[in-house]
Amino acid sequence: MTLIESLFRTTIGRKLLMAVTGIVLILFVVAHLVGNLQVFEHPDKLNGYAHLLQTLGPALWIERAALLICTVVHIWAAVVLAVADARGRGPQPYAVDTWIQATLASRYMRWTGGVVLAFIVYHLAHFTIGVAQPATFKGNLPAYTMSADYRVLGLVAVRAGTQVDDVRSMVILGFQNRLVAVFYIVAVGLLSLHLLHGADSLFQTLGWRNGRWARGLRAAVTLGCAVYFLGNLAIPGAVMTGLLAPQAPASAVASR
Ligand code: HEM
Repeated sequence: MTLIESLFRTTIGRKLLMAVTGIVLILFVVAHLVGNLQVFEHPDKLNGYAHLLQTLGPALWIERAALLICTVVHIWAAVVLAVADARGRGPQPYAVDTWIQATLASRYMRWTGGVVLAFIVYHLAHFTIGVAQPATFKGNLPAYTMSADYRVLGLVAVRAGTQVDDVRSMVILGFQNRLVAVFYIVAVGLLSLHLLHGADSLFQTLGWRNGRWARGLRAAVTLGCAVYFLGNLAIPGAVMTGLLAPQAPASAVASR
């Protein structure tokens, strides 16, 4: 069996695929959150950042393809492993508690994973394609004129005066719909729980679950997931409490 075949055909290979694709997806969601938190700064920041991403051209499409492949492989491996697990499990009278726990954990992972998948579909329809809330979609809002250069590592990435999509207003106006804001909060809450339990399975696969550092590792992951949740909660939460409003400086807004 070649390496690729054993990755896709054996249980340990599929678990490794789940782990690796899971890590890639975690890196994306963390980077995405760090970028999104610029909503709390001057509108130049989030709008300049979003414009920079949109102008990456082939690199953006490579990133999108990698995300799609990781999502598909992650879900495929989860389903195949769950089916094999259910088939292979006979009655286990001596390990009933372990069996119940394992079943609950995997059911729970499937359920949270399913909600996160539904969220991603809605999220793309909302902020990327613009069919969920068309009136507040970036393409239907007045363009935003950058009042200062947007810099990355000291280099100018988007020049002052450039007209860009007003992504910051789109996000804030989107979350002014309370139903949408609550849906996002519930979804990122479930995603955070999914990450917490996913990390447990990852450590099990890597044999780190009973190691010397197991407790510290678990505490660090729990803290990381809590911070991730709070960071995501902050954005719709700040809109719902009126802390964030789409007030671009009047001089910086131009009509298309
Ligand atoms: C409060 C939470 C979030 C906010 C405010 C937010 C905001 C955004 C915005 C504004 C865009 C479109 C950017 C643009 O086209 O200019 C976007 C795209 C995206 N978001 Fe989020 N997001 C959030 C959470 C998430 C989460 C939890 C996930 C994944 C589970 C996610 C996955 C994506 C993906 C896959 C895209 C498409 C990226 C692309 O076009 O290449 N987002 N998000």
